[in-house]
Amino acid sequence: MTPHQQHPAKFTATRRRGAVAGGLPLAIVALLATAAGPAASATGLDGLGDPYFPLSGNGGYHVQHYDLTLGYDPGTRRLNGNAVITASATQALTRFNLDLNGLEITSITVDGTKATFRRTGQELEVTPKQALPNGQVFRTTVVYSGTPKPVTDPDGSSEGWMTTDDGAFVAGEPQGAMSWFPANNHPKDKSTYDFAITVPQGRTAVANGVFDGQTTDKGLTTFRWHQAEPMAAYLATATVGNFTVEQYTTADGIKVYNAVDSREAAAAAPVLKQLPAVLQWESSLFGPYPFKAAGSIVDRAPNVGYALETQTRPVYDSAPDLTTLVHETAHQWFGNSVSITTWKDIWLNEGFATYAEWLYAEQHGGPTAQKNFDANYAKSAKADIWKFPTADPGSASHIFDEPVYLRGAMALHKLRQAVGDKTFFSILRLWADTNRGGNGTTAQFISLAESQSRMDLSQLFRTWISTSGKPAKP
Ligand code: ARG
Ligand code: ZN
Repeated sequence: MTPHQQHPAKFTATRRRGAVAGGLPLAIVALLATAAGPAASATGLDGLGDPYFPLSGNGGYHVQHYDLTLGYDPGTRRLNGNAVITASATQALTRFNLDLNGLEITSITVDGTKATFRRTGQELEVTPKQALPNGQVFRTTVVYSGTPKPVTDPDGSSEGWMTTDDGAFVAGEPQGAMSWFPANNHPKDKSTYDFAITVPQGRTAVANGVFDGQTTDKGLTTFRWHQAEPMAAYLATATVGNFTVEQYTTADGIKVYNAVDSREAAAAAPVLKQLPAVLQWESSLFGPYPFKAAGSIVDRAPNVGYALETQTRPVYDSAPDLTTLVHETAHQWFGNSVSITTWKDIWLNEGFATYAEWLYAEQHGGPTAQKNFDANYAKSAKADIWKFPTADPGSASHIFDEPVYLRGAMALHKLRQAVGDKTFFSILRLWADTNRGGNGTTAQFISLAESQSRMDLSQLFRTWISTSGKPAKP
């Protein structure tokens, strides 16, 4: 079997083509629906077919833009939300789903007309008064409020809206977006965003993209953010706290906004100072930085236990070390600009960001990538790193484990050895460039590597990403 057969791109493009009803005039669809009983052909699916998260995302439409107006009171922990979701139907729809977990819904309208809705778990099923024809652009407004509850992942970690002593740490990988806004919550569907977040005066609310200014009225401050490049819902944030803010523009014209919990400021300062240099170094390796904005959110969130590469502006649960900053910054190319198509392919994010750490060390007076490779290869045959194939974690509970991060980086190192530095770095740049703002699959990466190197790399990838167990002496 070739690697291509092992990783069929089976989830691509379904959202742009109306699966069943595409092309049929709505009247005929409606007729068929009545004739055939329940209108299976005109209802959006409750998931996007992801094997690890079958209910993540929804079928039948593509979200172009989220306009999120939020108010958060750290004292009462209450969130008020108004989400205006502009989407285009990719099939005729008599109803469609959004993902939202918890919170109470006050009202939903579609194009200004009241819609009916039903909730089951994370599925919010919306029935507009009038069916939507395929291709229609429609606007759904969801008014909601409540106390957001974090999502517990299959691996036991928490994500989503997580309260801190002075606000909230908001990080949604892989599913947590649904704890604070209604979304088509799967990386396959990427959208632009506007945020207006109101918090008590003195607190700062930080989201993604370019800072559009703040206004204070009657003891409340509203922070506005615009994310112009497509973003997966899991990369959205609205982190709130007592932050010290620093803003500047880099020599390349990237707008930087750093928000730092003052208790972390001393430890964070020397690392954040390196951000422009890291952006520049990664741009020299991976191609132009894919976004207009950058920055960091350094919070004090001792119960979180991880950082997330929230788009344009990673969020750290405490002052990061330089390696972590390099890792989360590399995700801006690998994971954020080029997103995965299914969570099974998570190594395309984590293996690449980990390899960026190794490259950084190699080029900044640390150990070579070979040395990092060797140190990992030296692990016993029983070690966690060999437990499952890098490109097939097997279930949602393993997507952040060592075979994804470390063996994923090892696989890239083997690729680099096989094709040589020049071809290797051109593969990385082309991967970032051709899929900029979109999605990629493991099969597409392998095929790019093979076409650039003019080599048959099936054995290499089979060994390093598709097989479990420690490979024989490399
Ligand atoms: N993508 C993040 C990183 O590599 C890890 C996120 C972990 N998320 C979680 N829910 N455990 O830094
Ligand atoms: Zn990562």
